[in-house]
Amino acid sequence: MKLGFIGTGNITVAVVNGICGSKIAFKKILVSPRNKSKALKLSKKFKKVSIAKTNQEIVDKCNWIFLAVTPKIGEQIIPKLKFSSNQKIISFISTIKLAQLKKFINKKVKIVRAIPLPPISIGKGPVPICPPNNQVKSFFDKIGTTIEIKSEKLSNSFWSMSGMMAPFYEMLKVQADWLVKRGIKRDKAQKYITSLFIALSEDSAIKSKKNLMHLVAESQTSGGLNEQGVKELRKSGYYKSLEKSLNSILNRLNKV
Ligand SMILES: NC(=O)c1ccc[n+]([C@@H]2O[C@H](COP(=O)([O-])OP(=O)(O)OC[C@H]3O[C@@H](n4cnc5c(N)ncnc54)[C@H](OP(=O)(O)O)[C@@H]3O)[C@@H](O)[C@H]2O)c1
Repeated sequence: MKLGFIGTGNITVAVVNGICGSKIAFKKILVSPRNKSKALKLSKKFKKVSIAKTNQEIVDKCNWIFLAVTPKIGEQIIPKLKFSSNQKIISFISTIKLAQLKKFINKKVKIVRAIPLPPISIGKGPVPICPPNNQVKSFFDKIGTTIEIKSEKLSNSFWSMSGMMAPFYEMLKVQADWLVKRGIKRDKAQKYITSLFIALSEDSAIKSKKNLMHLVAESQTSGGLNEQGVKELRKSGYYKSLEKSLNSILNRLNKV
């Protein structure tokens, strides 16, 4: 199987690193010449990765084509590409819907929208796909955790969630900075914060068959520090504003 990537930006770099470090069986990966330095780095790092001369060359030579450009660029370039009937198109583009993609591509091909996130480079993280597709599911299950979604409207809720990465990192940064301000060395502060949140995330994933509210309750002792932390943050509107941001991202996505 030959895999082609149109748009060699951040998400392509992460996905290609994930694929090349996984058990996915593939013959070759062809990436587009833009971004030049990212494409060069990938082709130097991995023997099976080469740089195509044009986007059309990728479409001509690959079985699966990943669309990884911004929506504006996608609208300009996809309608000009000539696809063939037996191909699979996996679009990472945030705001071009399935119906629009079908129109742009104008061939009987399988089109799946997917939302990989940067930790896919280390073979981790959720990958919502819409519509469900067995082959695409089993592909992403080798570099993450595929979540199949039937309705495209619902997939916008997952797109909203994908906007929570920077807020999460900002939260880690604020807490590490806080430790540094109290005289702890930066490397120690960051080591503490990152290992704390890895531990909490792994533990919560193991225990996530139960409603997460149990973890919130179990991590507090009456009159203790965690009780104070969560109570004060709730009172300050911290969690409500998190919900407000998610709603506003979702509204933006639903308007497209
Ligand atoms: N980053 C994420 O975590 C993430 C997650 C899920 C989905 N996505 C979606 O994936 C898409 C790409 O995101 P990104 O973060 O990877 O953006 P990005 O880093 O800006 O990558 C976009 C790439 O497209 C290239 N490009 C521009 N014009 C092109 C053309 N005509 N033909 C081929 N390539 C062209 C750009 O090259 P130049 O640098 O030379 O302009 C750039 O390398 C977006 O639609 C985004 O919503 C991103």
